[in-house]
Amino acid sequence: MKDQKTQATPAVRRLAIENNIKLSEVVGTGQDGRILKEDILNFLAKQTGAILPYEVQKTPTPVMAKPTADTPPKEKKPVMAPPAIPQLVFTGIDRTEPLNGFQKAMVKTMTAALKIPHFGYCDEVDLTQLVRLRSELKGLAESRGVKLSYMPFFIKAASLGLLQFPVLNASVDEGCQSITYKASHNIGLAMDTPQGLLVPNVKSVQSLSVFDIAEEINRLQALGSAGQLGTADLTSGTFTLSNIGSIGGTFAKPVILPPEVAIGALGKIQVLPRFNSRDEVVKAHIMNVSWSADHRVIDGATMSRFSNLWRSYLENPAAMVLDLK
Ligand code: COA
Repeated sequence: MKDQKTQATPAVRRLAIENNIKLSEVVGTGQDGRILKEDILNFLAKQTGAILPYEVQKTPTPVMAKPTADTPPKEKKPVMAPPAIPQLVFTGIDRTEPLNGFQKAMVKTMTAALKIPHFGYCDEVDLTQLVRLRSELKGLAESRGVKLSYMPFFIKAASLGLLQFPVLNASVDEGCQSITYKASHNIGLAMDTPQGLLVPNVKSVQSLSVFDIAEEINRLQALGSAGQLGTADLTSGTFTLSNIGSIGGTFAKPVILPPEVAIGALGKIQVLPRFNSRDEVVKAHIMNVSWSADHRVIDGATMSRFSNLWRSYLENPAAMVLDLK
């Protein structure tokens, strides 16, 4: 039977065309065999296993490389199939669902956040020396059971900067009548978890080594991916860093997490040409930072001086050693 002769409304035909389905292959359950929208959706669901309007393909399972003359069987290593490209299935149905607890908490926090007059300040940081240092220390940290990323350095440098600029580690009361300078540097890190965006914090960074911070981030990441971050880890933050660069962005416009007064977003580290002090073009590892601060209590000059200090620790990581307690 040809599609043209199949009984179906124009909307159903369009849905079939949009999903590359031949109407002749679909069994109609309507009157006189008429094909209904549900028939198309059921057909699609059978083909793809989809139950939602958008279904993402499952992660590919590792497949074993076939032994060849060059690779003896005992050296078999799992080879990952190419990364799955999400297969989007258009079903034409709007879907409404209630916000979950985490989303509701985000609505509340972000609504309060946008009452704060934000100002932005951006700069770039040359991490060439830090990239070298981290690659030297990564193996050592691993031998002690800890994954060492760049975050512990970013967080420690922020804490050293906050010692000089305590107004950035402060909070303002609701009526904006008083400011409290927080003693501890409880530095939050925005975390992309299966539950959505969460911001656990590393407590008392001022007393921790880079290694201690890495260990703590490992713990928080493990809890975050298991959906087990608890109230103690998620509250009492005093300053936040959001490493959006680990996912891929270069610039961001971060939103302050009340009652804090400042936040920094870190872009991806890129290898770019830059001039050195002898006017030669060199390969450099560059990262952009985007700060947002509460303009009621922080001015641009303070933000700029803090950012310069933070940047100088990261550009000359050996200087951090001098100032560590
Ligand atoms: N540029 C380039 N590479 C980066 C990077 C950056 N800015 N940040 C991290 N990386 C690298 C790490 O060094 C690591 O590489 P490695 O395997 O060679 O060590 C790799 O990316 C993965 O790092 P990750 O596991 O993400 O650790 P992290 O300590 O750098 O970051 C989190 C931890 C929690 C911040 C991060 O996992 C995350 O969730 N980021 C998203 C934050 C977010 O959603 N922000 C938006 C808020 S609105």
